[in-house]
Amino acid sequence: MPEQVWSEVDDYFEQHLLPTDDVMRATLETNIAENLPPIAVTPPQGKLLHLLARACGARRILEIGTLGGYSTIWLARALEPGGHLITLELDLHHAEVARRNLAHAGMSDRVEVRVGRAADLLDAMTGSVEPFDFIFVDADKASSDVYFKAIMPLSHPGTVVIIDNVVRDGKVADAKSDNEDIQGIRRMTEWLATQPTISATAIQTVGGKSYDGFLMAIIGT
Ligand code: SAH
Ligand code: DHB
Ligand code: MG
Repeated sequence: MPEQVWSEVDDYFEQHLLPTDDVMRATLETNIAENLPPIAVTPPQGKLLHLLARACGARRILEIGTLGGYSTIWLARALEPGGHLITLELDLHHAEVARRNLAHAGMSDRVEVRVGRAADLLDAMTGSVEPFDFIFVDADKASSDVYFKAIMPLSHPGTVVIIDNVVRDGKVADAKSDNEDIQGIRRMTEWLATQPTISATAIQTVGGKSYDGFLMAIIGT
């Protein structure tokens, strides 16, 4: 099945299920104008994140990997009244573009963009912030296992965790892959297999961003 069909199907559902949205369009245009890589979640994926966060009534959301804030805006729009979102980004230029996009989206009052290495920022948060209800992990995939372990103390029973890009054109199934991202995803998956209190699955996706997938987990007691 050619990738063109996957994009046409994304376009079809986007036209019918995602109302015209000038803020989202402007965000993606700003990302391009600012030379950010075109690796934000697709519109249908962004809305899926939004619906999942709404379904769990999230008041506190954590995102790892902001880029220009496209997924951040989808998630921020899902927050319950008075809710708060913290998003972590290594690249100062990405963070500045994200802050501008979030301001244009009217979300600056509920979103905080923190700049630095996610591993360091997560360590700094441990013990000093309230746990999060919903966590979206979308930064460097080589650190996937590090990030999952680091978010455990920032979670509570019932916290929903979504990890982006866990399939990578099917490469995740290659145990011998020399790709660091793949090895990071595999270390995370194999660590999850040893955690009886975490319930997880993974779903393969095709669409405007080719063949990839999400891992979803719920933290238990
Ligand atoms: N969630 C975004 C896309 C994120 S792309 C969206 O869907 O709109 C991945 C981002 O992770 C990039 O902006 C990259 O700069 C950032 N990143 C990479 N390594 C990182 C690290 N060690 N700590 C924090 N952010 C990192
Ligand atoms: C790529 C895609 C992503 O969703 C991401 O978070 C990082 C990289 C990519 O296609 O390279
Ligand atoms: Mg991603």
